[in-house]
Amino acid sequence: MSDAQLRTEFNEWARAGKGESMERGHRPVGEQAIARMRVTPEARVLDVGCGSGWATRLLDEYAFNGRVTGIDISDEMVRLARESSRSCAHVAFEIASAEQLPFNDNEFTHAFSMESLYYYRNIPKALSEIHRVLKAGGLFVAVVDLYCESEATHQWIDTLKVPVELLSIDDYRSLFIDAGFVNIFDERLIDPTPIPENYTGSSFKSREDLVSYKETGSLMISGEAAR
Ligand SMILES: C[S@@+](CC[C@H](N)C(=O)[O-])C[C@H]1O[C@@H](n2cnc3c(N)ncnc32)[C@H](O)[C@@H]1O
Repeated sequence: MSDAQLRTEFNEWARAGKGESMERGHRPVGEQAIARMRVTPEARVLDVGCGSGWATRLLDEYAFNGRVTGIDISDEMVRLARESSRSCAHVAFEIASAEQLPFNDNEFTHAFSMESLYYYRNIPKALSEIHRVLKAGGLFVAVVDLYCESEATHQWIDTLKVPVELLSIDDYRSLFIDAGFVNIFDERLIDPTPIPENYTGSSFKSREDLVSYKETGSLMISGEAAR
């Protein structure tokens, strides 16, 4: 799948209102991950695969004297993110591929990525780009829901119109190490929102699958750019 095909697919997501629904779905766990990032007021933060930009705006609340930049391969997602962020003075968005970041070496102190890594055609290249644009000691935190150990999420693979990488926690740890990250840390984050008695959503085939997904948790993995 080419970048253009990925862009077309995620542009459709943006037009269908999935930018907003992803915020509702991802925010309860994303907030926990961002709280662990120790983002300082002067931080320079990158949000990779920012979608509608909800996490970019949340990061801006921490880095209120710094700069927060969201990038996404979908121009429609970036348009939505820009529209929703007019009141955020230190926030900017760019259309870009994670595998080719339009930034200089060492530009950022922190990088974040929510539910985006497994869509990349070349995850090692993206991780190496994120490492390149982070200053020495800079922190990268990624969250993924779709990973080997979360079996209930595997049903998404056939329903998605784009190919995805199904990786284990160890696979992610190895990829981070290969890209030059150190002090790798992983944790499961639990979404505390209640599970409805009568599940009618479309994300899972059954309520039991939703329960299994929630109990397994989202994978947060982080690493520091080697000094
Ligand atoms: C599931 S959405 C998550 C969006 C947002 N992080 C959130 O939590 O709401 C995945 C996002 O990754 C973006 N994406 C996919 N492949 C990408 C790539 N190679 N480079 C940059 N963004 C990419 C998509 O356009 C989409 O907006």
